Formats: sequence, C-alpha cells, structure tokens
Amino acid sequence: MKIVIDEISTINKMVAKEITKLVKNNPNAVLGLATGGTPLGIYENLVLDYKENKTNYENVTTFNLDEYVGLDINHEQSYHTYMRKNLFNHININLENTHFPTLENPQSYTKLIKEKSIDIQILGVGSNGHIGFNEPGTSFDSETGYVTLAESTIEDNKRFFDSIEDVPTSAVTMGLKDIMSAKRIMLIAFGKNKAQAIKQLINGKEDEAWPLTILKRHPYVTVYLDKEAASLIE
Ligand code: PGA
Repeated sequence: MKIVIDEISTINKMVAKEITKLVKNNPNAVLGLATGGTPLGIYENLVLDYKENKTNYENVTTFNLDEYVGLDINHEQSYHTYMRKNLFNHININLENTHFPTLENPQSYTKLIKEKSIDIQILGVGSNGHIGFNEPGTSFDSETGYVTLAESTIEDNKRFFDSIEDVPTSAVTMGLKDIMSAKRIMLIAFGKNKAQAIKQLINGKEDEAWPLTILKRHPYVTVYLDKEAASLIE
C-alpha cells in the first residue's frame, strides 16, 4: 500500500491526473466513483481538464459506490443528482454507461462489475471506517445489496440535509468484494475525523469492525491523505 501525504489541492490534481491518464490510454476505461464531500475537488479538476483538453469519455463506463434508499433519484441530495451536477453534465460521458446500484436488482450490479472490471476505484471513507456504505461489521465477502446506515453515518451526513430526520437511514451499496475486484484503488481521506479510521488501515489488523481494513489485502492501493487525516499514523 502506497501512502501519499500532501495538501488537499495537490492530491485533487494528482488523483484527477491518474484518471485522465487512464482514460486517454484506454478510451473504454471503467471507473468506480464515489460521492460525498471528499471527491468534489477531484471532479472539479476532471471538469477543468475536459474544458482544456477535451479528454474523451464517450466510451467510458462508470459504477457508483452507492445510492440512498427512499430518495427519488432526482432529489437534490441523491447521488444520481450529485454525479450529474458535479461531473456527468460537464463531460461527454454517455449517461447510459453510468451505473448505480438499485434495490430492485443488486445482484445484477455485482454481475456487471465482474463483467466490465473496474480499472480505478475512487474511495472516500466514513469516520467509522465504512467504504461505500459498508458499515462496521459488514462481512468482507459482501456483494452489492441493501444496508442500514450507522448512526454515525447519519450524523456525518446531516450537513447535507435540512435536519437529521431528513437523512435517509438506508441505502444500496456496492459490496466489499465488488470494491476489492477493482484493479486499482485510490482511497482519499481529508480531515481529523478520518484519522482514527486511517490509523486502523495503516497500523491495525484486518478487522470487519473497520471495513476499510479489507484494503490491506489488495495488491494495488494508494492512500491519499492530508496532514490531519494522517495525524494518528504511528
Ligand atoms: P465524505 O464521506 O467524503 O463526505 O467525508 C465519505 C464517506 O462517507 O465515504
């Protein structure tokens, strides 16, 4: 596992550059995408690059990590809306090639990921160590499916909603096994509230109580941290 500690703006540029490099070399690239606060700067850089260099996303396929259950896909806080607003509306991606897990057919998501094979998976991490919405205690063998959100996740995500009662309490998420099937994983964490989870990943053992520690098994992971997220590493 490679660890990069740098300024947030530098990391955003570095990660975006890896993505555009992949897409330029492989026009049929398959990307695993994350939502939340962390990847916003990466998507900004991808949009900037598209404006300047016209990187071609026409044949790129994407798989998002998760989506809330109980929000219409057009709700302003749905992850469908997030992706359109922050990335898809600003590049020449074919929306038919962009995928989200659904409650109706989670097994088909796992199947499609296996068929297509993700080249780069972008990951944020929850303060409790979740990746996707795979909360603490999730089996390391999990595939895409319905999950209940942890109290701490609802608390962390209330900043996006008017009140905590409005935060969905369940979701559909790509499973840990699906995430691990990606050829390359880039995990990004910024801020002090991620420091404990990052310490578990770097200094701790594989432990289902800290879902991100499954990444210790993956042969090609880069962890991008700002100073605060890296502050508890021994
Ligand atoms: P954040 O969420 O990027 O909004 O901090 C990350 C996550 O919950 O995976």
